[in-house]
Amino acid sequence: MLDAQQITLRFLETKLQVHPDVVRYIQEQDELDLIERIIAKVPGETIVVSAKHIPGMNATRDGTRFLTDPSVEVISGSPGTSGCVNGTSDYLHYFRDRYNRLGGMIRNRCSAMPIEALTRNTRYRQEECTIIGMVIDVKTTTNGHRIAEIEDSSANIPVLFRKDRPVFSDAERIIHDEVIGVKGKLSNDGKLFFAEQMYRPDIRIDNTPYTSKQPGKAVFISDVHVGSDTFLEECWNRFADWLSDSDFSYLLIAGDLVDGIGIYPGQESELVIKNIYEQYDAFGAMLRDLPSRMKIIISPGNHDVVRGAEPQPVIPPQFAKTFPENCMLVENPALVNLQGVRVLMYHGRSIDDMIGLIPGASYEQSGLMMDEMLQRRHLAPAYGRRTPIAAGKTDRLIIDPLPEILHTGHVHICGLTQYRGVLGINAGTWQSQTAFQKQMNVNPTPAQAVVVDLQTLHPEIRVFM
Ligand SMILES: [Fe+2]
Repeated sequence: MLDAQQITLRFLETKLQVHPDVVRYIQEQDELDLIERIIAKVPGETIVVSAKHIPGMNATRDGTRFLTDPSVEVISGSPGTSGCVNGTSDYLHYFRDRYNRLGGMIRNRCSAMPIEALTRNTRYRQEECTIIGMVIDVKTTTNGHRIAEIEDSSANIPVLFRKDRPVFSDAERIIHDEVIGVKGKLSNDGKLFFAEQMYRPDIRIDNTPYTSKQPGKAVFISDVHVGSDTFLEECWNRFADWLSDSDFSYLLIAGDLVDGIGIYPGQESELVIKNIYEQYDAFGAMLRDLPSRMKIIISPGNHDVVRGAEPQPVIPPQFAKTFPENCMLVENPALVNLQGVRVLMYHGRSIDDMIGLIPGASYEQSGLMMDEMLQRRHLAPAYGRRTPIAAGKTDRLIIDPLPEILHTGHVHICGLTQYRGVLGINAGTWQSQTAFQKQMNVNPTPAQAVVVDLQTLHPEIRVFM
């Protein structure tokens, strides 16, 4: 395999800097002449070579994916598919499914061997090998190296990531229960694996998004929190007026439709509607005021009336009685297809966990948290923390197939990201700063909506404050 430093140096010789994603791509392709082909195609004024300079990149695929305009197809997350948990055997299936599917994505890019075969056979001690495992535990040693215990279906082994190696920057962001691949060598006693390179199930760098063939625009919002005394009714009305004057085809809402009841201690004193049915009735009335030609797609969040464990079922009919007919209720998460453009809706509760586990992560960078999900191909990698997961037979939180758009909320801070062809939207909130957020020093960005042109996937933030 080509050395990362050699690749960087070859670009520097031609006065070009190179993005780490491109270095990684060249390493994975392992084609000797690829560097020269990229250099030959780079325009003269380029300073940093990025993914768009790789031959065959920077395109979008046209497609309707067999849909007529305007229509919505629910690919996953339609009502009644979240399932229930039947006991501990489901957890075993759940984690096996997670390991097999995420491990399979890594295996597509490298050939790996079972951990047990590696440790049992002494002939592998001096050879470079790759293994794939789920992270059981991860910590920093007293010397500042990172050590992760990983497990596959055959055995487990501690993996050391030395702080003076390039692989360390990937290893710093390892979190519990994600699936990783590591290339390196086993120690002489066969008890420790020294990693030189790390793989995540990540999106391929040449991923090409679909775009709609027909005109169409979608509006993305989340965290409306109707019923709270901090819900911004005036801003919402301004938003509703603006929608009435528009020709948008779709409105997507990623959870926390209402503020709920009993979600946190002392919530009663911050509610202007203290009855859960009345909260949803008020929300339904707001939706009835919106243009009926627009399709409204609604998934729940942790403030909504359904179970907290993900995947969360749809809002039950007794709470949605007043919702207009143009509403479509889906689960959390749900994958929907708008004119060939696939949108993965996920409320985003796992962002709380990731901020606690990834060094340097913060609520202000809600966009980057979506990059972290996409790199791990999982919406809520860390199990058993603040994000409750209902472990069914399959892992519904795996990001597969890849969407064109990942739509989240929960943190109440609007953020956009573009990661390897996927547009990430954290849609913010319609609630001003709460007493709790003030205490936690969280500054929300309320009353914003993101509009995406489905023909170009170009996002635009509109403010109604
Ligand atoms: Fe919320």
